[in-house]
Amino acid sequence: MKILIVNGPNLNMLGIRERHLYGDKDYEALCRFIANAAEELGVEADIFQSNYEGAIVDRIQAAYSDGTEGIVINPAAYTHTSVAILDALKAVGLPAVEVHLTDVDAREPFRRVSYAGMACGARFTGLGFDGYRRALKWLSENAKGK
Ligand code: DQA
Repeated sequence: MKILIVNGPNLNMLGIRERHLYGDKDYEALCRFIANAAEELGVEADIFQSNYEGAIVDRIQAAYSDGTEGIVINPAAYTHTSVAILDALKAVGLPAVEVHLTDVDAREPFRRVSYAGMACGARFTGLGFDGYRRALKWLSENAKGK
C-alpha cells in the first residue's frame, strides 16, 4: 500500500522552532521515524514537505494518478486557513488522516478550526511523532483497496 505523507509549512524547522512545543528532534528525524514506522507496518511511504500552499495542492492532485492509496497530512498552519487544501483532498477522494504533533485543541482558539480535517477519516493530535505511526496504521487497517 502506497501512502503519501504531506507536511506543511515550518515543519522543516523542527528542532529549531518553538522547541518547548515541538521538541528537539529535527525534520530529518521525523522522516526517519515515518520511514521506520512504514517499514514495520509493511506500507510504502512517500514523504513530501512544502512551505507553499499551491505546491501542497499540486502534490495532493498528483496523488490521484500516481498509485497513492491513502494520505497522511499535517497541513501545519494551513490546517486553520486553507480551503484549497480541503478541496484538493476532496477532489482526489483518497482516504486521508490528519496529524498534528501538538494538541491543537488545547492551544490558541484559532487552532481549533481544521479545514483539511473535514476531508479526513481520522485525526491524531498531541502525540508527537507517534501520531504519524498511528495514522499510517489507521490507513493500513481501514483504507486498503478503497
Ligand atoms: C501543527 C499545529 C499547527 O497549528 C501549527 O501551525 C503547525 C504545526 C502541529 O503539528 O502541531 O505548524 O500542525
